[in-house]
Amino acid sequence: MPEVTAKPDERERLIVALDVADADAARELVDAIGDGASFYKVGLELVMAGGLPLVEELRDQGRMVFLDVKLLDIGNTVERSVARAAETGANLLTIHGVDRKTVAAAAAGRGDSDMKILGVTVLTNLNVDDVADQKIETPIPDLVLHRAKLTVSAGGDGVVASALEASAVRAAIGSEALVVTPGIRLADDALGDQTRVATPASAIQAGASHIVVGRPITQADDPRAAAERFQEAIAAALSS
Ligand code: C5P
Repeated sequence: MPEVTAKPDERERLIVALDVADADAARELVDAIGDGASFYKVGLELVMAGGLPLVEELRDQGRMVFLDVKLLDIGNTVERSVARAAETGANLLTIHGVDRKTVAAAAAGRGDSDMKILGVTVLTNLNVDDVADQKIETPIPDLVLHRAKLTVSAGGDGVVASALEASAVRAAIGSEALVVTPGIRLADDALGDQTRVATPASAIQAGASHIVVGRPITQADDPRAAAERFQEAIAAALSS
């Protein structure tokens, strides 16, 4: 199985988020994208609607899968769940990178598989008041960096980070770690509900190893052409 690294093949840097209601809708989308992308994100909505067999299906087709389930539980449960997730052949898996026990349990559960563990640091929908509700006084940017370092030092392989914080995260966790950035738009894309967005070029220049793109591709009239536009933007950023 192709191992995900911080310096992937150019066309494996784009991860398309399959944020659709069920596995059939996801299959249609993957077919429509064709050769436009080879790496897909399956999130919780899809997992609850036939998404896990779809992960195996996509892997059998030679595609790569990011299983975005953001696990957080006692160590025994995390370890055992991650071991089952690895059996699907998923290439990337998210956990909450908030404490060492969770990250270490995920690393143990992954075992000898090539599945990489990514930590989510601070969910980007949380603001300073939400963090204060948790009795955390640390400014959010510092908390992101603290948790990114904790994740990697406890056995994780990298983090999910906004492109706007990617360069600080990259500096904190080194060149070998994965930095996967959502919230990516081409300059002429609609923003949707995203407010803090970046282009593929700025994300990659900031140190992102991979970018996650959803609606600009999945809701395009021609998803394959839309994916190709992102691939071209990535290629241009890498060659400049
Ligand atoms: O906005 P878009 O449709 O491109 O979102 C793509 C994916 O990135 C979605 O699955 C979304 O949940 C995820 N995401 C995000 N912004 C964050 C963190 C995750 O858009 N800050």
